[in-house]
Amino acid sequence: MLRKAVNSGAVRLATRAAAGLLAGEGVAIARSTLPAAHFALRSHASAAGSSVPAGPHGTNYHHAQAPGGYAFFMPTVSLMGAGALDSAAQRIQRLGYKKALIVTDAYMAKSGAVGKVVDVLASVGVEAVVFDGAVPNPTDKNVEDGLALLRSNGCDFIVSFGGGSSHDCAKGVGIVAANGGRIHDYEGVDVSAQPMLPVVAVNTTAGTASEITRFCIITDTSRSVKMAIVDSKCTPTIAVDDPTLMVKKPAALTAATGMDALTHAVEAYVSTISTPVTDACALHAIKLISTYLRTAVADGSNMQARDMMSYAQFLAGAAFNSASLGYVHAMAHQLGGFYDLPHGVCNAVLLPVVQEFNAKQVPSLYIDIAEAMGLPESARRDAATASKAVLGAIRGLSKDVGIPANLKQLGVKPEDFDVLAANSLKDACGFTNPRPATHEDVVAMFRQAYEGEEAEEPLAQAA
Ligand SMILES: NC(=O)c1ccc[n+]([C@@H]2O[C@H](COP(=O)([O-])OP(=O)(O)OC[C@H]3O[C@@H](n4cnc5c(N)ncnc54)[C@H](O)[C@@H]3O)[C@@H](O)[C@H]2O)c1
Ligand SMILES: [Fe+2]
Repeated sequence: MLRKAVNSGAVRLATRAAAGLLAGEGVAIARSTLPAAHFALRSHASAAGSSVPAGPHGTNYHHAQAPGGYAFFMPTVSLMGAGALDSAAQRIQRLGYKKALIVTDAYMAKSGAVGKVVDVLASVGVEAVVFDGAVPNPTDKNVEDGLALLRSNGCDFIVSFGGGSSHDCAKGVGIVAANGGRIHDYEGVDVSAQPMLPVVAVNTTAGTASEITRFCIITDTSRSVKMAIVDSKCTPTIAVDDPTLMVKKPAALTAATGMDALTHAVEAYVSTISTPVTDACALHAIKLISTYLRTAVADGSNMQARDMMSYAQFLAGAAFNSASLGYVHAMAHQLGGFYDLPHGVCNAVLLPVVQEFNAKQVPSLYIDIAEAMGLPESARRDAATASKAVLGAIRGLSKDVGIPANLKQLGVKPEDFDVLAANSLKDACGFTNPRPATHEDVVAMFRQAYEGEEAEEPLAQAA
């Protein structure tokens, strides 16, 4: 079904997202059939009415059970660590693929980095055609161009090489190659009928984790809106997270992508459909990012920091792939679509603002986040103290890695807040935010992020 106008998809998105995000492919659960308690979640940690005493998050889980239970999506074979790219070649050979469309961006092609992938494929007798037209914040047009090249060359699988933009563009090509139509037809949750053409995602940022997720974010250029395509049939077959491919990332890119990963972990952790499985992934991701991001930014050649950030973004991806996200992403997608701004930077600026909003609903969750961030015991003695400390620590980390303090510095215009807020509330990523927002709430959050707040002196980390 083709979506033409901004408004026409809102109802379909709301019903499909509640059904698909929560219960997974093929399980039709309408939001209206779920217990009200599921959406009126106050806190994961304090089990109202439970006979079990409240404990740390995840040990006393208290979501009302959804009919049909919860889904955990992890179908990708993930190859991790130095040397993973070479292992991927052996697997590709065993799967019998013959000719790859390599989807990448202009920088990765011009810098010569893509040559390594071409060589690795050639070493196992696989031919390759390079499409280097995936731009940061990839567009519907990029998908069409990649698809045309794939068809004219008779490629039987796709290799994406780069960051989230290359992977998402590749997924877009793979979806349309297998299902026909245009990428716009697949906006929403589990819309496609056929699995996409196989994608091997070779990741070079840490990051989006798009190499393992069922998310594909493509800009609809006619509306300047980033479409969220959430579909288990667009999960890559093989993912490669080899930190040696991330060493040359400049400091600003390392910072932005690292803050994106932190946002995935925090949003997944406070999501209304998190489970103890996604919580475990999210908390460890927060711990690794809090420990290693500053070093990865300050010294890109530090292999331990690169390796740990590669695992951290993977864990954050494993968390949000099933628990989904929240308003930070729903709002950041609008900034990316409207102004073509870097995704991670938008997230970093919005993260403390949206978490301040959320902390009014689920304050005790921030005790766990404070602990994962390594904040001292005095900063997490109660929920109010912990929430405040977490906001300060996020702002402190952003500042230390050189993220701009507010949306004003990014060139965002207050006169656009109305339309940005309206579109944010239609983005599937916002449906699992723990505190529902009104249009006015979202405008207020954009305004707060526009003005920005200076980071306070960072709290000492716990020993
Ligand atoms: N599908 C998902 O699950 C998901 C999740 C979050 C974000 N996203 C999307 O991903 C996109 C952002 O991806 P990203 O942040 O990874 O960046 P990116 O893919 O847009 O790349 C940004 C720039 O960094 C360069 N680059 C990439 N790797 C490099 C390396 N190792 N060394 C030097 N330069 C390198 C690229 O050439 C490009 O110019 C956005 O469109 C966002 O919406 C997708
Ligand atoms: Fe993201």
